[in-house]
Amino acid sequence: MGLTSAAQAGTSALTVPTRILLLLLLLVGCRPTPEPTFPTTPQIMTAGPDEHSYARAAEVRVRHFGLSLEVDFATRTLLGVITLAVERADARAPLRLDTRALDISRVEIARAPAALQIESTHLAAVEALWSPARWNLGAVDEHLGQGLAVELEGDVDLVRITYRTAPEASGLQWLAPAQTADRTQPFLYSQSQAIHARSWFPCQDSPGIRATYDAVVRVPPNVRALMSADPFETGTAGTYGFEMRQAIPAYLVALAVGRLEFAAIGDRTGVWAEPSILATATHEFADMERMLVAVEGLYGPYRWGRYDVLVLPPAFPFGGMENPKLTFATPTIIAGDRSLVSLIAHELAHSWSGNLVTNATWADLWLNEGFTVYLERRIIESLFGRERADMDAVLGRQDLAEAFAELGADDQHLRLALGGRNPDDGLSDVAYEKGALLLLALEESYGRKAFDPFLLAWFEDHAFGSVTTAEFEAFAAKHLLGQPRLPNKPAIDLGAWLDKPGLPSDSPVPRAEAFERIDGVVGPFVRGELAAAGLPTAKWTPQQWLHFLRALPKETDVARLRALDERFALTDSGNQEILAQWLEISVRHDYRAADAALERFLARVGRRKFLMPLYGALLEAGRGDEARRIFARARPGYHPITQSSLDTLLGGRKK
Ligand code: BES
Ligand code: ZN
Repeated sequence: MGLTSAAQAGTSALTVPTRILLLLLLLVGCRPTPEPTFPTTPQIMTAGPDEHSYARAAEVRVRHFGLSLEVDFATRTLLGVITLAVERADARAPLRLDTRALDISRVEIARAPAALQIESTHLAAVEALWSPARWNLGAVDEHLGQGLAVELEGDVDLVRITYRTAPEASGLQWLAPAQTADRTQPFLYSQSQAIHARSWFPCQDSPGIRATYDAVVRVPPNVRALMSADPFETGTAGTYGFEMRQAIPAYLVALAVGRLEFAAIGDRTGVWAEPSILATATHEFADMERMLVAVEGLYGPYRWGRYDVLVLPPAFPFGGMENPKLTFATPTIIAGDRSLVSLIAHELAHSWSGNLVTNATWADLWLNEGFTVYLERRIIESLFGRERADMDAVLGRQDLAEAFAELGADDQHLRLALGGRNPDDGLSDVAYEKGALLLLALEESYGRKAFDPFLLAWFEDHAFGSVTTAEFEAFAAKHLLGQPRLPNKPAIDLGAWLDKPGLPSDSPVPRAEAFERIDGVVGPFVRGELAAAGLPTAKWTPQQWLHFLRALPKETDVARLRALDERFALTDSGNQEILAQWLEISVRHDYRAADAALERFLARVGRRKFLMPLYGALLEAGRGDEARRIFARARPGYHPITQSSLDTLLGGRKK
């Protein structure tokens, strides 16, 4: 029974002033007849030790949870029942969970039956003696959502919550068939990082808190469910079972539902995609198994069993997401020539840096992303040679320079002070590229002979744990900084890297000879001394093309762009990195022949990395009205995260 109906039933015969008084009493939480089953007034709740979560794991910690989900495309909601097994260090403390926009209808508690083995039972279907719980939802915080406190009476150690997600849940995107590759079935996928898991299941949503999980997911006909877990047979058509026996933080719990098929690449690796793109995707990612072997050679065994990649529809707001066992990836990396697979190397590398050893809070994101970019380039080097890895490093250094130009001094530190901001907003190339550059600096000063075993030990010593920047400082001081440096190599001032803006003056400068050859022709081309047809492009790789386009100066005459396009059909490029770069240049130089392609791109692709600079360029070119018109049409097809970034950029919500 809900609060309102109880209040109405008891107050119908009362005078108006008495009713108002009662209502006030209800509002301050002094209910005349306490009913344990419904929430009292929203309380102000304060975040726990992680400023982005209400969880207090030192008091009560979720060890395992079982999810039972029903996927309803018609209402764009998940109907969920979650059963959480908790460990109680503080007998009086409630279980504190994170939620966002969840419609919670029931909260129950129970003592786990004596015979129950939490590790091996499917909690999603556990039988226990449930009784109603006393629970409380906190006030809505713009970034954090709502804390949920569940009182744990006596010796209960199971909590069961029945809920429904909101159609606009920030961690889910519901796609119509027209937004998929095959256009036949709807599609649903989750994106939980950084703090969106709470929008599709109540959880302790901090990267420093790990749990194992199992799940059963009911879906309509003609689609299947996948999760970041091992599948098991439920014996019921349309119901998919999953179990994850390695403890992971909530941001790595992932779900996808669609018309999906599988093709193997190696013994442990494979691709999931819609049928029409499966063959192309499998061809593109053919090197996955070799990549896996390469990382294992450097940083120890792969601990997650299988490594598969799921190709999502183009609305996916990121390039990739390292959901364990099952990376989620944008289709925009399928170029036909395997030129953009460094993204796969990146997500695979997260199986060590991030998933095995996880940043304790989002302020330590560089420990995930900086390490991963460094590992990614080691993988690329080992598969394709130093030159290709160096080119990636130079492009990354350019991205970092742009980030420094845009960010305030405090946001240029590796150790971030997010100070109440949404961690999505603290996301910049600093964690990625400055972080990777710090590891490169350490590598260059101490040599790979010392640095490789150091990183291996970092992963082994912290496996399935969470790490802070302070722990990294201590570990480096103990195991690396005291070792002999290579001749003429600088000492590393960790403090400057971690807590100062910009880069120390002696930081490494990535160079790629393959780019320097390109630099030589940019000037002559821009000045008109070299025709487009005269550019030595025959052997240019997509990375070299990207570098060439980025190197074109602001003053480049639009006639030069037209010549380039006529010769190389850049407006029709099938490489989405090159296309996005070209479209941005076109806007910046008012090359209007690319307008139609730009509009098509903005309507089709939801990857934020591409959209933000493109819409930004339109604004700067004084084409704000046009940008808002295009956005208004494309917005319903974008992910909630992309929608909200663009709402902010383009000023005010337009529908
Ligand atoms: N884990 C990130 C994506 C992410 C980070 C999502 C923070 C939400 C919050 C993923 O591994 C990633 O870094 N993706 C990059 C690609 C990579 C090659 C730099 C992306 O999506 O562009
Ligand atoms: Zn990453």
